[in-house]
Amino acid sequence: MAFFYIANWKNFFLPQQEIDFVQKHQNMLITLSASHNIIICPSFLSISQLTSQFADTAVSIGAQSSSQYSNGPYTGEITAQNLAALGCQYALVGHLERRTLFGETNEIIAQKIDQLLANGIMPIICVGSSKKQEESGILAKDIITAQLALPITLAQKHQLHKLLIAYEPGSSIGSGNAANPDEISAVFLYIKQLFNSVPSCAPVLLYGGSVNEKNCHELRKIDQLDGFLIGSASTNFQTFEKIVSCS
Ligand code: PGA
Repeated sequence: MAFFYIANWKNFFLPQQEIDFVQKHQNMLITLSASHNIIICPSFLSISQLTSQFADTAVSIGAQSSSQYSNGPYTGEITAQNLAALGCQYALVGHLERRTLFGETNEIIAQKIDQLLANGIMPIICVGSSKKQEESGILAKDIITAQLALPITLAQKHQLHKLLIAYEPGSSIGSGNAANPDEISAVFLYIKQLFNSVPSCAPVLLYGGSVNEKNCHELRKIDQLDGFLIGSASTNFQTFEKIVSCS
């Protein structure tokens, strides 16, 4: 399986800047996608343009979130059904910013995952404790066990063979300090154990949290690592390319 490089652009750009970025670097992104899984997650506003731009190429487009509901009277929501209609192939779910700033619970996140899977979109499930949880001494393992309980049940329901899980510790997101490789390794091992209850489904293990062109070499050595979820460093193409070339 090719290594995953997922660009989470968050709300760093204006829509036109997102479009300019891909127009400028389209050929290079397509070249990189020949040997790597390249997934770009722009704002909702640019998804339609980007999926057309990369139609018939190996570059995939992902959403940064999606609704827990299906199409209906849900003012302001963007449903999995609509994302699928635009050609969106992936969606981030349960990002720590969504959990802490927008009150997304494990139950809401499970509903979103269910909607995405029902519409043929592969969720990228983000797990890990918040800074506050870390400071209050709650074990990351306990948090992750609770965060993955429903997704594992859904993997069974939808008969999935793989599920993308991104471990993103709160103290590393946006801090400039990635987590310690040994700690990441231990968490990966633990996630694998949690998946023992669904032997037909393998977790695809990603790490996110201040991945940059300086620490990517060290992080790449982590056993079991299948990819990176990259926030701010992915908004500069040269930096993103350096990270992809780390292997
Ligand atoms: P960061 O963000 O790389 O800027 O730390 C990662 C993420 O939040 O997905």
